[in-house]
Amino acid sequence: MGILRQLLFGKYLLITNTVSCGLMMAAGDVIQQRSEYWKKYSHKYFPTSVIAASPEDEETTAIISSTSMYGHDYARTRNMTVVGLIQGPFHHWFYTILDRVLPGRSAKLIVKKTLLDQSIASPTCLAIFFVGLGILEHCKSEEICKELKLKLKIRWIKGCLLLDV
Ligand SMILES: *[C@@H]1O[C@H](CO)[C@@H](O)[C@H](O)[C@H]1NC(C)=O
Repeated sequence: MGILRQLLFGKYLLITNTVSCGLMMAAGDVIQQRSEYWKKYSHKYFPTSVIAASPEDEETTAIISSTSMYGHDYARTRNMTVVGLIQGPFHHWFYTILDRVLPGRSAKLIVKKTLLDQSIASPTCLAIFFVGLGILEHCKSEEICKELKLKLKIRWIKGCLLLDV
């Protein structure tokens, strides 16, 4: 119990938050990759038409079935995990400071905390996400900036509207 308490509330909380953030990013990416695969190839499992009209069609079918085996992109999951491990400490410190600056759970405080969360934590996390992935993909910094501005805006607006999709 001692260790668990320390992991969840004590001096190891930073490590717990960092590791869990990394693991959640990894799990999220695994689910996302499977779902992308499923969306792309579900027609293979539920074919709407089984008639091959021309030899060309047969060829495409053969190509699809040979390339449609699920192959996990481990590099992508690893990159996501790395980004999660960087976001972890930020989350940890942000919410620790937030609780110190605004202790309490009254409705007014919750509104304030939510506003600070949306205006500071959310854009910072998105920046870590896109810049981190950009660096991992060896993009030029100009490209990162352009991509960052565009994606940040879209994601942040979606986040504010609670459209986390
Ligand atoms: C992941 O990182 C590696 C190494 O930095 C990079 O070569 C690769 O393009 C990245 N892959 C994705 C999908 O981001």
